[in-house]
Amino acid sequence: MKIGILTSGGDCPGLNAVIRGVVLKGIAVHGHEFVGFLDGWRGVVEGDIIELPRTMVRGIAKQGGTILGTSRTNPFENNGGPEVIKANMDRLGIDALIAIGGEGTLAAAKRLTDAGLKIVGVPKTVDNDLDATDYTFGFDTAVEIATEAIDRLRTTGESHHRCMIAEVMGRHVGWIALHAGMASGAHAILIPEQKASMEQIAEWVLSARDRGRAPLVVVAEGFVPEGQETPHSERGLDTFGRPRLGGISEMLAPDLEARTGIETRATVLGHIQRGGVPTAFDRVLATRLGMAAVDSVVEGRWGTMVSLNGTDIVHVGFDAALGNIKAVPQHRYDEAAVLFG
Ligand code: F6P
Repeated sequence: MKIGILTSGGDCPGLNAVIRGVVLKGIAVHGHEFVGFLDGWRGVVEGDIIELPRTMVRGIAKQGGTILGTSRTNPFENNGGPEVIKANMDRLGIDALIAIGGEGTLAAAKRLTDAGLKIVGVPKTVDNDLDATDYTFGFDTAVEIATEAIDRLRTTGESHHRCMIAEVMGRHVGWIALHAGMASGAHAILIPEQKASMEQIAEWVLSARDRGRAPLVVVAEGFVPEGQETPHSERGLDTFGRPRLGGISEMLAPDLEARTGIETRATVLGHIQRGGVPTAFDRVLATRLGMAAVDSVVEGRWGTMVSLNGTDIVHVGFDAALGNIKAVPQHRYDEAAVLFG
């Protein structure tokens, strides 16, 4: 069998480990042949491929980014669609696709599978907001990077007796903020799932200061203070029509400074959280998912993705992962909030 691999959507540490897991197991155990589509669905629609022999994946598990490149191309736009993709696959002799991506990628993969294409999925997002899998690879790395950065913000904050605000990724959910905030001992963790007023945040900050601490606030980029408009709409769209995210911490800083009288600084960690070397946990998870995705192809489990259930890799239908965002549950926030202030 000849199998095509693509990585689509925002990149994420661990993508290369998935590709390596797919190729090594697929060649060694099943004797398959592999090609990579360049830049996600763009490569699939345009038939733009590279060969993926064993030598191409040598040593790449520890490499950040994706050797295949990625894009946010929608395979149903730009002269795409199932017929074009099917014709490309037939011309290139490709029997099946392994699509590695987040919700948008998996939704497209589902539509294409419904149209008769042979596709299996591997879930990916640093935000950890995909349903039907306990964790996504990339999340652990993002938390590690954010925690290290917040630890550094704490020492400079303490030296200057300042309040420090660290803004982390999390458009819809606050998983990175919750974990990095707990790990670094934040005095407040602000996430999109939980309402918090400016008065309440100022109270947490003052309470930390009154105990002789330099207040540390961790905020997810999608957080909106209670009673305020969604900040994303105020920041508009980039030239490609995508929302410009990030910046809530810069809105919070002057407001908190005015309310508390404590000098306050904001730091947006941004894409640093998505770059560089994946943690060992993410490499192992990504490798296992890649190997299981090859098994899915061999078993003809079209329209399914591999997922982490406890410590086991299982197979679930695309439907299970789509439609519902995995939010931080109330009890997880409540246990972190015991430590606020
Ligand atoms: O979905 C992952 C994510 O990293 C979000 O947390 C973040 O808001 C977004 O992607 C950034 O997207 P882009 O790289 O297109 O700016």
